[in-house]
Amino acid sequence: MQNFTWNLNTRIRFGRDAIAHLAEELAPFSERILLVTGGGSIRRNGVHEATLAQLEKRGASVVEVSGVQPNPRIASVREGVRLAREHRAGFVLAVGGGSVLDAAKTIAAGVAYQGDPWDFFTGRAAVGEVLPVGTVLTLAATGSEMNGNSVISNPETTEKLAIGVESLRPKFSILDPVYTFSVPADQTAAGSADIASHVFEQYFSREPGTFVQDRLAEGVLQTVVRYAPLAIERPDHYEARANLLWAGTLALNGLLAFGRPGDWATHMIEHEVSAHTDLTHGTGLAILHPAWMEEALSAETAEKFSTLAERVWGLSGADRLVLGRSGIEAWRRFFTSLGLPEKLSQTGVLEKDLGMMAERLAASGPHGHFVPLDREAILRILKRAW
Ligand code: NZQ
Ligand code: ZN
Repeated sequence: MQNFTWNLNTRIRFGRDAIAHLAEELAPFSERILLVTGGGSIRRNGVHEATLAQLEKRGASVVEVSGVQPNPRIASVREGVRLAREHRAGFVLAVGGGSVLDAAKTIAAGVAYQGDPWDFFTGRAAVGEVLPVGTVLTLAATGSEMNGNSVISNPETTEKLAIGVESLRPKFSILDPVYTFSVPADQTAAGSADIASHVFEQYFSREPGTFVQDRLAEGVLQTVVRYAPLAIERPDHYEARANLLWAGTLALNGLLAFGRPGDWATHMIEHEVSAHTDLTHGTGLAILHPAWMEEALSAETAEKFSTLAERVWGLSGADRLVLGRSGIEAWRRFFTSLGLPEKLSQTGVLEKDLGMMAERLAASGPHGHFVPLDREAILRILKRAW
């Protein structure tokens, strides 16, 4: 296990009616607030109204940028930066799913930067001074509520790129499982696949001696396996929604990553696919991660795969390769049992584009730490997934 520093920096207010703490959480910060929201779900389920009541209690002066789309576009970020400057906002409050949170973070970074915020993603500029960010999360998936990541799409260049900056970790996040009751089945499934995928990206690491991280990771995966089907079957099952919500936060807040490098190649491949097709992130991962696992499984890596199969799926057998393969099949069956597609061909991805995607991704490589991937390996994964 490698050395690490622990400072998660985000106060979590978790549970029923947690929104009641919003005014109090906002109190130490500027009362001039930019509110960032999505396509309308929060206006239908009462979250917007509850947020506004708390903003009023705070005595806040609010301007809102709404309409942030899934796979959030750089255009929404630019609009948010413009509005934040015009309003002289000193705080950014995101209310929605991961896309809204990610857009809010890049807006918070863009206000003090005189160039185009897309520069952060191409590496032309580093994030400097940022506005503080707080969140009210409505979908269990990305972990954005407790990490410094932001993933933004640029349709002009057909790119979907990520930044990870410590200073963009939210100051606080309000997590009320009831707010996720209205998440439709397909997004609940995709979010659950995203949570599992975040765990895989960190679990499959070459770093030795990370026993505690591995057992925590398996616990998060067991949580997804236990509760995702239940949340889909009974959307207002509080225990299921609460466990999924907290699993999503724990999967990508650093807890499972500390002390070891992760892999993250599957996420890079998915981002490339989403950049070209606007595919839902978790849906792409549910298809691509089993395909990556098949590429990564070998006599050398079989121990890790077979341990996962034993601990999460309760499988057993003497042959570690066979056991590892059975575990991969169990994941594939699990994702399709949630109603997610098994193949990219079912999602509108065109076979003729696979080579171009592999080419573009390989050019920004190298990708993959557990198993480094070259262009041919990326293409094999895409073809297997197609
Ligand atoms: O826009 P609205 O109307 O709110 O609808 C959204 C959207 O259509 C809807 N939704 C959200 N909460 C809801 C709800 N519908 C009903 N009831 C609710 N309570 O769900 C749809 C999807 O929302 P989105 O925010 O896109 O989903 P998610 O949270 O899965 O975020 C996905 C984005 O996050 C990025 C992904 O690439 C993708 O762009 N990621 C961010 C990461 C991070 N910041 O650390 C890491 C991830 O690996 C990921 O890349
Ligand atoms: Zn993800």
